[in-house]
Amino acid sequence: MTRVLEGKVAVITGAAGAIGTATAKLLAERGAAIVGVDIPGADWSRLRGVLPEGARLVTAEADVTDEASVKAYVDKAKAECGRIDIFFNNAGIEGPVKPIQDYPLDRFLKVLGVNVAGVFLGLKYVLPVMYAQGTGSVINTSSVAGLIGSPGMAGYNTSKHAVIGLTRVAATETAPQGVRVNCVNPGPIESRMMQSINSGQAADAKAAHDATSAMVPAKRYGTPEEVAGLVAFLASDEATYCNGGFYTVDGALSAT
Ligand SMILES: NC(=O)c1ccc[n+]([C@@H]2O[C@H](COP(=O)([O-])OP(=O)(O)OC[C@H]3O[C@@H](n4cnc5c(N)ncnc54)[C@H](O)[C@@H]3O)[C@@H](O)[C@H]2O)c1
Repeated sequence: MTRVLEGKVAVITGAAGAIGTATAKLLAERGAAIVGVDIPGADWSRLRGVLPEGARLVTAEADVTDEASVKAYVDKAKAECGRIDIFFNNAGIEGPVKPIQDYPLDRFLKVLGVNVAGVFLGLKYVLPVMYAQGTGSVINTSSVAGLIGSPGMAGYNTSKHAVIGLTRVAATETAPQGVRVNCVNPGPIESRMMQSINSGQAADAKAAHDATSAMVPAKRYGTPEEVAGLVAFLASDEATYCNGGFYTVDGALSAT
């Protein structure tokens, strides 16, 4: 693949996590400078270890639920890189796995805070930068959990449905300004997050993993790299008429 993103600047939240790291790697390989955003004290070693030789990485530590911190990471991206062409609005948490009657309200609100308010705040501060440029591509991370219900996942599934709604609202506002907003909907991906969810689903996390794999028509989990490929397409100028959509990368799980 040629360096089709040469000269572009990509801001990625949750950049120290599984999907964020794989996406930063791919976008950097295609030529983009990366501004990685993650929680204060995040371990950046995995991301630094996978970026190609000569890639530019600026890190910004911020809690995406804190408005001043969101403004600060956007200001840092602008100050250090001059522009924001791609915004992968991806930080998220899974919350507990519990039936609704046992699901604590504070945990429910925490999941909505990171997965919905965090995405909202990212849009709130990044979009004006893209409007001033007259161009930009935002990719929000939803999930197959944004399309279906899953027992025990009230906070997470609610939040990921909301990301689709937010994506649609945003696209109607941004399209006239030359800015695109889409979301990606990964199925189960081999990652810490799915290990955590599988551990909450059954005492035997491996059995829960295998049961989930069996439900997927592809009969396996996806990889963070398979999500990254979709994000890179939506970020690129090959996707200039893709706006306001949601795109599954789920081994046909949501097609069943
Ligand atoms: N792993 C999966 O199977 C899967 C499937 C569908 C969707 N997703 C979504 O993909 C995204 C990335 O997931 P992942 O698998 O890479 O998980 P991960 O836990 O490896 O990465 C998430 C990252 O977000 C960061 N983060 C969490 N709260 C934050 C906050 N308040 N402020 C700043 N950063 C914060 C974490 O520190 C972490 O580095 C999430 O939105 C997740 O819901 C994941």
